[in-house]
Amino acid sequence: MGINIRGRSFLTLLDFTPAEINYMLDLSAEFKRMKNNGVEHKWLTGKQVVLLFEKTSTRTRCAFEVGARDLGMGVTFLDPGSSQMGKKESLADTAKVLGRMYDGIEYRGFKQSVVEDLARYSGVPVWNGLTDAFHPTQMLADIMTVKEEFGDVRGRKLTFFGDARNNVANSLMVVCAKLGMHFCACGPKELMPAADLVEKCKAVAAETGATIELTDDVNQGARDCDVLYTDIWVSMGEPDDIWAERIKLLRPYQVNKELMAQAKPTAIFLHCLPSFHDRETTIGEDIYQKFDLPAMEVTDDVFLGTQARQFDEAENRMHTIKAVMYATLK
Ligand code: CP
Ligand code: NVA
Repeated sequence: MGINIRGRSFLTLLDFTPAEINYMLDLSAEFKRMKNNGVEHKWLTGKQVVLLFEKTSTRTRCAFEVGARDLGMGVTFLDPGSSQMGKKESLADTAKVLGRMYDGIEYRGFKQSVVEDLARYSGVPVWNGLTDAFHPTQMLADIMTVKEEFGDVRGRKLTFFGDARNNVANSLMVVCAKLGMHFCACGPKELMPAADLVEKCKAVAAETGATIELTDDVNQGARDCDVLYTDIWVSMGEPDDIWAERIKLLRPYQVNKELMAQAKPTAIFLHCLPSFHDRETTIGEDIYQKFDLPAMEVTDDVFLGTQARQFDEAENRMHTIKAVMYATLK
């Protein structure tokens, strides 16, 4: 029987089977081929989607907007300043109203419970564009990029270096477990994924042949590694006064040339972006002035090097998000 996820919400990859995830990845590759060959695919003409953002974004917003337009849909963008949600209107009421006007809702914000409630009350598919807990659309683009490099992803080792309990690391652990990969969370003991999520992923891994490893040893993280992944050290929504503590904890987990050299020679580097790899941002320059650190989670030599694939990964956000919208709305 074919895979069918029409009408479903996309809140965390824990809700999807490996076959369903592979179906979305195959569809993404198909959309990429069409886009690159100029083949029109306005397959959802007449539908409308709304993008509700309570945190800032470049890639996710643009991927949803371009993806929706390529599919022939209308798009409304709402930022925190331009909706009533939470201030003058409850989440449930907002969800019910949006569900009457739109065919699908994207939400980026804080608590995972908000995106779950939007799905519960709106009655239409809701897509998680990042919460404090998970960032599932990112993972499809990440795995698509790994597939483009290596073909079959099963058995490949992906190590996340840094704040290994953030939304991106959590979601990577889930997708690697689902797809039979070897996931390694490499960071300080204070920033390891929550035990209950590790247990859930280990249970999935037992079915798929994946392995889950947690280590504070960077050499162990890099050993036999196919994909070195990192993310910013302080995520959106965390307080600014946490930088000093994070820098102290995470400096040893920076992805630099020496670390890359310990991985497989064929290894690639991924980053969800945005990234502090130089001083060309206000925060990057501020951190340099305060901590004498010209780069944070990744150095320029890696970011600009031949093993870096983060811009392919960023492009793949558009193809994968389009696949998620299409598969759930068609
Ligand atoms: N990777 C990612 O989600 O980027 P944005 O914050 O720019 O959407
Ligand atoms: N962990 C980061 C991811 C940004 C795409 C954050 O939440 O800010």
